[in-house]
Order: sequence, then structure tokens, then C-alpha cells
Amino acid sequence: MRADGGPAAPVRDLDDPAAFASGDPHGVRHALAAFPAQCREALALTAQPPLAQPEPPRVLVVAGMGGSAVGGDLLAAVLAETSPVPVLVHRGYGLPPTADRRGLVIASSYSGETVEVLSAVESALARGVPVVAITTGGALGRVAAAGGLPQVTLPGGLMPRLALGYLFLSAVAVARAAGLAAPPPPAAEEALDVLTGLGAALGHEQPEPANEAKRLARALAGRLPVVYGGPATAAAAYRWKTDLEENAKVFAVAGVLPEMQHNEIEAWRDPAARTMHAVLLREPHEPAAIAQRFALLRELIEPGADGVSEVWARGAGRLARLLSLVSLGQWTSYYLAILRGVDPWTVPVLDAVKRRLADGTTDGAAP
Ligand code: F6R
Repeated sequence: MRADGGPAAPVRDLDDPAAFASGDPHGVRHALAAFPAQCREALALTAQPPLAQPEPPRVLVVAGMGGSAVGGDLLAAVLAETSPVPVLVHRGYGLPPTADRRGLVIASSYSGETVEVLSAVESALARGVPVVAITTGGALGRVAAAGGLPQVTLPGGLMPRLALGYLFLSAVAVARAAGLAAPPPPAAEEALDVLTGLGAALGHEQPEPANEAKRLARALAGRLPVVYGGPATAAAAYRWKTDLEENAKVFAVAGVLPEMQHNEIEAWRDPAARTMHAVLLREPHEPAAIAQRFALLRELIEPGADGVSEVWARGAGRLARLLSLVSLGQWTSYYLAILRGVDPWTVPVLDAVKRRLADGTTDGAAP
């Protein structure tokens, strides 16, 4: 980092160990390499005290923000295939009216200090909605302990977005314990196998010509990344966007097919498309209608775009597919940070926002 906080001179060689030692002082590469192990550890986490609802909830609301909300998006995507119960991811203060006594709220906050999540828990308690907390502790942990609420206690020491395995897979376990048709253990085993293989293929010691994430980062450097998923992978596309923003500190766009072909597709005629690089999140054996939409998209945008890359999910089950796409996005955003000379761990502006909210230096009064 330069003294003024802007990016340092870009690093060109992603195969130089020195680039990682200096560009990643907090060791994000080690946290990413440990992601499969984190997911395995997460499978053993349970809520204490256990959930006591006699019947499955009528609605599941995951209250979370940023990195702690993404596990909710992924949970909604996996339950969409197997469970008739609606899953809402609530990013904000309070709770939607649909969360009532017959529902269940998962309050997801890695730090346990996120004001929006604390506000959601307050609303749930006032309305008598059952709550499960997923957190390392903090104020959320204290509220859960004081109220005797079931709590999954996560290991600390990570940035929240790097704890996605803990946050997501413990939410899957909570959903299963609540009686919802969440993916069974064999699906998780498949996902772990896929992630272990990917960890070896994408890690920083794997040279650029053979490393899909390094090559993608190179393609995205200096461009505006635009990540498109299909209906089943939209959550992964959004996660790519937020990882690119938080890790590499670049603007990124996420969208979903077929919806974007009813609006956003028109914007690709703008000359600005020349500076944009689309990444299409594909799945083997995706529905023919979706494969057709991707083919059409590529045909229509490629002539005006900087470039179009296609990446493919691994595995057969939904869990493996989503996590493999997420893992590729994590590594890609990481290498882009290294290329840009920005620290992939720190998020100084997010931290400043939280500090200012906590110390009241912004009163928020309307002018
Ligand atoms: C930081 C990150 C953020 C946080 C968000 C909410 O790594 O990913 O998006 O997740 O600010 O904080 P927590 O997760 O502690 O509730």
C-alpha cells in the first residue's frame, strides 16, 4: 500500500513467492488453502442447547449482513431444490412481517457485533419468533446466552468473509435439525472432496499457466468484472461480486440469467462494454433453456466486450457445485488483490463505517 492508502505498484508475477509474502501479510492464502478443512470442521458444529421446535418452521429467515449473509444465500439456493419452505435472507434492521411464531430466524454474524443482526434478534424476541444464533460470540453471543437461545459457536480469528464454510455449513446443519430437507451428509462429503481437489489446483504454489484462478485474475485486471450465474448459481455470482469488492477492492457487477436478458443485456451496447470482462458461471448438464441463454449471451456481448470467460462448477450435487464456484471466486479475487498491490485481508472503510456508527460521530439527521 502507498502512504496515501492507494494501490501500490502492481505485482506482475503471480508465481513469485515474494509477491505473496509482501502482498498478503495477514496470510489470506493460508485461510483459503484451509477452506476445505474449515468446511469439514463446520460439519461437526451443532447448536447448544439443541433446537426444541416440535415442527419444521413455516418460513426460515436468515438475518445477516455482508460475509455473514452469504451463507444464507447459499442455504436458500440448496433448500430451493429440496424444501417447500421459503427461505428469506434478511439484510437490514428489524424483521419482515412474515417472520412469526411459526417461523425460525437464524441470526448469522461472525463477529456478533453487527447492529442490523442485533436489531433482527430484538424484533424476533419481541414477537416470540424462535431464534438460533450463529456467531463467534460478541453481543449476539451474550444475548443468546442470556435468553437461553440455541447457539452455534464458531471458531474466531478470521475475517467474516473467510469464514463462509463455518457460516454456511452450520446454517445447513441448523436447517436440518429444524426438520427442513437440507442436503444429507453424503452431499457434504462430495463437496469436501471437490473443494480439496480445487484447493490443490488453485493454491498460490500452482503456477499461472495451470491455475485457473490466477489466469482469471489476470484477465480481470484493469477491467470491470461482470459475473453472471444461472437461476441455480445466482448466489455464487453475488458472492464473486462481494469477494472482488472486499478482497481486491474493485467494482464488480453480478447478474442472473435469464432476468438480465430482459434489461441489462441492452447496456452491453454501450462503448463502456470495451472495459468490461464477463465471467459466466456454468454448470455441466444445466437445463437446456439456461444453456441456450448463456450461448445467446456470449454471442451478443462478446463482440463489444473486453472479453468473456466461462467457468464450470465441479461435482454432481448442488452443495459441491455452489462451493466449487465460490472457491474459484475467492481465489480469483485474492490473486486480483495481489496483482493490484492491495491487502486482501483488510477492509479499512468497512471498519471505519462500523466505528463511526458505534461512536456516534454520524447522527444521520436529514438535512
Ligand atoms: C468482512 C466481511 C463483512 C462482514 C459484515 C458483517 O470480512 O465479510 O462483509 O461480514 O460487515 O459483519 P459480521 O459478519 O461480523 O456480522
